[in-house]
Amino acid sequence: MLKIIISLFVGILVSGSEISQSLVKKQLSESFITRYEYGKMLYNNPRGISCAKCHGDNAKGTIISKFKHVVKEKSYNCQIRTKDMTTISLEKFTLILNPDNLIEKPVFDTTDLCSKMIYGNTMPKYFLTQDELESIHYYITHINQR
Ligand code: HEC
Repeated sequence: MLKIIISLFVGILVSGSEISQSLVKKQLSESFITRYEYGKMLYNNPRGISCAKCHGDNAKGTIISKFKHVVKEKSYNCQIRTKDMTTISLEKFTLILNPDNLIEKPVFDTTDLCSKMIYGNTMPKYFLTQDELESIHYYITHINQR
């Protein structure tokens, strides 16, 4: 009798863990959709200016603005544009979006006045959590696969 009870109990335990495993799998596959959707939502509305405004709906980059700058009677036609970021690594992405990032300021050629003027004046600062960043990153690196 005891044996029957024990084997029944073990049986319930085993099937219980099978059920919870398939539940976990189901939740995981659902959370991939959610991660994409969540990333998309944040990309378009990240508690601040929408990323899409400057990076385009597909994160492939766009021309933000063009302006003419005149210095010492020499005129420069400058263009602020973003480049394709659909293949950016998560490491680089989180580094750039980290509000405290300490990326060294590049040294600009004196003839490259446009880059010098534009540098540091384009990307707003965002305060996004690691999870939010990973979701946006997931979204922009998976846009083309849909
Ligand atoms: C006001 C315009 C503007 C907004 C809004 C903006 N960016 Fe940018 N971003 C730029 C510019 C300009 C650059 C520099 C040019 C480039 O690297 O594409 C840049 C660069 C980047 C880069 C580095 C790309 C690379 O390969 O070096 C990443 C990543 C990035 N932005 C992500 C974002 C995300 C995510 C958001 C929203 C949370 C966002 N940006 C919002 C203008 C903007």
